Amino acid sequence: MEASRIAQPIGIALDRFIKNNQDHFAYASGELSQLLRDIALASKVVNREMNKAGLIDIMGPMGSQNSTGEEQQKLDVLANIRFTRALKKGGEVCALISEESETFEDLNNDGGYVVAIDPLDGSSNIDVNVSVGTIFSIYRRKSQIGKPITLEDVLQKGSDQVAAGYVLYGSSTMLVYTTGHGVNGFTFEPSLGEFFLSHPDMRTPEDGKIYSINEGSSNSFDNQVTKYVAHCKEKKFTARYIGSLVADFHRNMLKGGIYIYPATAKDPNGKLRLMYECNALAFLAEQSGGKASNGKDRILDIIPTSLHQRVPFFVGSTKMVEKAENG
Ligand code: AHG
Ligand code: MN
Ligand code: MN
Repeated sequence: MEASRIAQPIGIALDRFIKNNQDHFAYASGELSQLLRDIALASKVVNREMNKAGLIDIMGPMGSQNSTGEEQQKLDVLANIRFTRALKKGGEVCALISEESETFEDLNNDGGYVVAIDPLDGSSNIDVNVSVGTIFSIYRRKSQIGKPITLEDVLQKGSDQVAAGYVLYGSSTMLVYTTGHGVNGFTFEPSLGEFFLSHPDMRTPEDGKIYSINEGSSNSFDNQVTKYVAHCKEKKFTARYIGSLVADFHRNMLKGGIYIYPATAKDPNGKLRLMYECNALAFLAEQSGGKASNGKDRILDIIPTSLHQRVPFFVGSTKMVEKAENG
């Protein structure tokens, strides 16, 4: 059964919202609240740096590659530093899994939480002033506090998430998150430096008319995906693909739609990463009434075998995902 959903008046500040809803967490509520605040704070710093991206010379590749062999943009590195620093200072996180680091980072051994993060998603879009995002998942630590971090701590399945969310640095900056009691969205008010509740209890339409997929790779889609894309065209659905997962997901959640990153010849397991891209968005999708799968099985049930594992990703309105699964 779906857990009770949080209802709060529009306009309430994020800090107050987090405090008001502390009793929804099973235990250690103060710590999880603090952790959410730390993420919000770091996102404000990243937001400030992002807004300056067109003004100062922090653009372009840094010449290094990230853990999955892609070129890092300077802001990827900066965002990773900002989030890592905030979570280390906050003290609640024992291990941090990041797109930007090969292995997990030990932060505070007496912290009770594990965080997986894509500090900057869609970073190739920064140079052209298109929306980007941050994606995060929060897990409760499995091992005893004070003991060394184990693989069991860092390779938890999506259904073990206690909270997850994203920050969308778009035409306005938004923080959208869930603690398993529905999804709430907050919009950043830059002159006050605060997030305010603007999208309470977000629900995604059960069906939709938007499909988001990079059709440049359509020659190597499997039959199931090829058939589904043909169905979308037959139905005269609208194609929308920003190439920034958070922005594509956000639009589809609000309007009703499906996002697919399937297996392709170049990326036989899809391109997106289970631990710090798909799990968080799958949790949010389900909490808003939608669905997420790898084309067959529920994303949140996949037991990860490595930190940077990729999965095909089908997410969005329930009826569309079901149709895509059935070809
Ligand atoms: P990141 O910038 O963190 O590497 O992620 C980029 C991802 C995602 O945001 C987007 O939907 C997808 O890559 C786009 O990939 P294609 O260009 O292959 O469509
Ligand atoms: Mn990403
Ligand atoms: Mn990234």
